[in-house]
Amino acid sequence: MRNLDETTITQAVIARHAKTTNRRLKTVMTSLVRHLHGFAREVDLTEAEWVAGIEFLTAVGHTCSPTRQEFILLSDTLGLSTLVAAQNHRKPVGCTEATVFGPFHVEGSPERPLGADVANGAEGEPCFVRGSIRGLAGEPVAGAVIEVWQADAKGLYDVQYEAFDEHRARATLRSAPDGGYHFLGIVATPYPIPHDGPVGQLLDALNRHPWRPAHLHFRISAPGYETLVTHVFRDGDPYLDSDAVFGVRSSLVADWVHHEGGPAPDGRMLDTPFSTLDFDFVLNPARKEG
Ligand code: BEZ
Ligand code: FE
Repeated sequence: MRNLDETTITQAVIARHAKTTNRRLKTVMTSLVRHLHGFAREVDLTEAEWVAGIEFLTAVGHTCSPTRQEFILLSDTLGLSTLVAAQNHRKPVGCTEATVFGPFHVEGSPERPLGADVANGAEGEPCFVRGSIRGLAGEPVAGAVIEVWQADAKGLYDVQYEAFDEHRARATLRSAPDGGYHFLGIVATPYPIPHDGPVGQLLDALNRHPWRPAHLHFRISAPGYETLVTHVFRDGDPYLDSDAVFGVRSSLVADWVHHEGGPAPDGRMLDTPFSTLDFDFVLNPARKEG
């Protein structure tokens, strides 16, 4: 095939996939080529812009490390992560909605008993979190694995500290026989996503801020149910309608109730301020295989 020009190049590349035996790969790459070429045509891409794009993606790659995933950050800020989560977790009305996973989950966080002080020294106002895990018919889900992780009052996750020694504001719990759960965390605060790299520069250039509204992260899994990856957001947060990664869903916004002191849910009498958060999760039944 010779003498390809701007009107024939797209079809020529797609035709080159004719012998691809992996059907899914063929579908994905054919669509990618079609949309990529369509994008270049639509914006009338210049060579300087093409070079800038290559340099940007190179910088994104160079910013990645075992503790920093700049490509996921790029996907998050372009709304791709929210799109992929939404189309892969369509659920019946009544189920708790899913949202973005984010880059700060850690596999195998410390197992703690119900009621534990999950904060483990993380800076922030104590927050008693409690609720239940149920199925769509209201049945309690006993023994569900509840992973929770959150940023501290400085807006940083434990693993972001250079002097990281042990997990704080992060744990794995199991729901009680009646589906209940409770633990002591800290009040979440809004924080900026890491913005000292190429994604931050892009946000700046677009006149976009890097802030996420205050939230707690949860991953909840139990046999017979679809694993739920979600957040609980804090009502009244100034960034609820402009989350840098487009993760907010109204059904996930809850009232974090502030108390100046007094009797706490764990039976103690506290003379310092604390908050309480009640949130019930409803899991979707697992999809039947085949
Ligand atoms: C987070 O909530 O932890 C997060 C999500 C997306 C990008 C950066 C951080
Ligand atoms: Fe987060």
